Amino acid sequence: MNELGESTNLPSAVEELADLSREVETIRTKIDSFQSYYKRAGLALPQDVLHGLRQLNAKLITLRESVATIEEERSSLRAFAEIGHVVNSSLDLPTVLNEVIDTIIQLTGAERVFLMLRNARDEMEIYVARNWERESLRPGEYEISRTIVNQVVQHGEAVLTTNAQEDPRFDSMQSVVAYSLRSILCVPLKAKDDLIGVIYADNRIREGIFTESDRFLLSAFANQAAVALENAQLFNDISMSYDQTLEALVAALDARERETQEHTRRVVLYSMTLARKMGLSEDELIEIRRGALMHDIGKIGVPDAILQKPGPLTEEEWVLMRRHPEEGIRILQGIMFFEGAVDIIGSHHEHYNGNGYPRGLKGEQIPPYARIFAVVDALDAITSDRSYRKAQPFKVAYEEILRCRGTQFDPKVVDAFMTIDEQEWRALRAITLPRERGREPTMEASGKRGETTR
Ligand SMILES: [Fe+2]
Ligand SMILES: [Fe+2]
Repeated sequence: MNELGESTNLPSAVEELADLSREVETIRTKIDSFQSYYKRAGLALPQDVLHGLRQLNAKLITLRESVATIEEERSSLRAFAEIGHVVNSSLDLPTVLNEVIDTIIQLTGAERVFLMLRNARDEMEIYVARNWERESLRPGEYEISRTIVNQVVQHGEAVLTTNAQEDPRFDSMQSVVAYSLRSILCVPLKAKDDLIGVIYADNRIREGIFTESDRFLLSAFANQAAVALENAQLFNDISMSYDQTLEALVAALDARERETQEHTRRVVLYSMTLARKMGLSEDELIEIRRGALMHDIGKIGVPDAILQKPGPLTEEEWVLMRRHPEEGIRILQGIMFFEGAVDIIGSHHEHYNGNGYPRGLKGEQIPPYARIFAVVDALDAITSDRSYRKAQPFKVAYEEILRCRGTQFDPKVVDAFMTIDEQEWRALRAITLPRERGREPTMEASGKRGETTR
């Protein structure tokens, strides 16, 4: 059964009509061949029997053709519905486009289909290339007629040829001859009247593959692909402006704590490096990046006198300082964009042994992103100047993080951290600190143990 509940094993209506038509024809031929025998025996068939059978067969053939057209249209409609569903359900552009292209191949009998988009240099660049086996093609297999593509781009109209080898329009085209191109169908991809690309389908072996109805079909699919592209573009734009807003907000926040300037940019890079080392996916890295960027957003409510205090904090001051993770969650709560990030914001001061704040979570109760982030937050805090102590060398940070393995930090995260070479952290630090490039924190500065981060 297929997804519509129809049995796929039964013969189709078209096949049944063809069988019926063949049977009628057999009966008519038999009657015809016995005609003279009947006459000799003095039997006469009514005049119109043979004529009636001939007409019946002709009607069956017409009926079969109509049913075939209806079935074809129905399968196109079904494919449209499926594609519409894929386009609306996924923002993952490559998945959507591969699905659109594979459906086009299946419906038109194309051997290969290319989706080309206008790039920044105003050239048509191949974005998706698939063959009839649902495989992506390699750049070495991109043998297409650029002249036909240019023609579609120039005039904004579809081009269809059933045999390019003999089509007088393409006589002088080297690519058509050299690549033995035969059936080609190329349609424009338009988003709000702007031509943003083309879809190019071909079959190098068979001629006469594409029909006018394929041209219509492909144009409709091109519109679907354009919608998918537009959705993805809008989503990208929104993500980018969100990220830019975030960075501006964080820069304003960092400006209050002069000594921790660039801390945020460093922990963003550090946390992504460590998370990648631990095998997290690209989607998870995006969430970690946002969480790292916003981890101390709650400090917006902590007074300057506490934030910039050079010495140790009093108990009352600590009470205020310890509120910042929950304050951060309160600020960002309900914003879908930060769903993954709040784990870091709310739990980056929790300790693996349960001695952290604000909730005193223990071990696996602490969200995984926060367990990863806590290690790199400490790494940067130890190796940077803070109002309450001076920066120390990376070697000291490694010792301190290892010392706190299983108490403050998750042992698995520490183990992954220990496999990353000091040079890698220093290289990342150099990216964010051009003025301090190569400067290594010195041992002469003494730190107070037990207060790595606030
Ligand atoms: Fe914090
Ligand atoms: Fe931090």
